[in-house]
Amino acid sequence: MNILHIDSSILGVNSVTRPLSALAVQRLVAENPGANVEHLDVGANPIGHLTGQQFAERGKTVDPVLEQFKAADVVVIGSPMYNWTISSQLKAWIDRVAVAGETFAYTAHGPKGLAGGKRIIVVTGRGSSMLDARYDGYDHQEPYLRTVFRFLGVDDVTFVHAQGLALSADARPAIVAKAKAEIEGLIPSPPPLAA
Ligand SMILES: Cc1cc2nc3c(=O)[nH]c(=O)nc-3n(C[C@H](O)[C@H](O)[C@H](O)COP(=O)(O)O)c2cc1C
Repeated sequence: MNILHIDSSILGVNSVTRPLSALAVQRLVAENPGANVEHLDVGANPIGHLTGQQFAERGKTVDPVLEQFKAADVVVIGSPMYNWTISSQLKAWIDRVAVAGETFAYTAHGPKGLAGGKRIIVVTGRGSSMLDARYDGYDHQEPYLRTVFRFLGVDDVTFVHAQGLALSADARPAIVAKAKAEIEGLIPSPPPLAA
């Protein structure tokens, strides 16, 4: 099993999504011993925006970022909400993996996703809580990512939110603990080996 672990926070060790995405990967590995894990931290090491030259050369050169996504069975994404959507670093990654003829195709019957069969788990971090009615219509993160992955043919997409983090320092540990518990519920630990 190939696990692709993506982080996209600019906040380094202070990132909320980074330890949560790591927990999800740790649980997946416990469930699937021997899984191959590749970690792509586009927050710490941005991959750069897609350039006109790279776009023009598509099909003639191999893009390791695209190949890595295609080879993944499970993709775990740490996605901070910045200005009501994903970080621009994560958007740069999406621009590299949404490739006509590789992960989607336009057919006589409309667009067709070619990257199906993967499981995608997205862990978000948000200063505000999108459950608060005052933020109705502000969330361009989950709907956007769902659209992108649906377009690429991936139906199995799960979100875990750590949200409302900026509201009070006191509430923060409980918000993170709730997200951790959700991840643990999503990816159960294998039972201990019999003695
Ligand atoms: C540049 C920047 C923009 C942000 N914009 C938003 C926003 O639009 N809405 C929101 O709820 N939180 C916003 N936040 C708060 C982050 O979502 C919050 O800090 C969260 O922890 C980010 O995840 P991370 O800690 O893994 O980076 C922003 C934070 C930064 C640094």
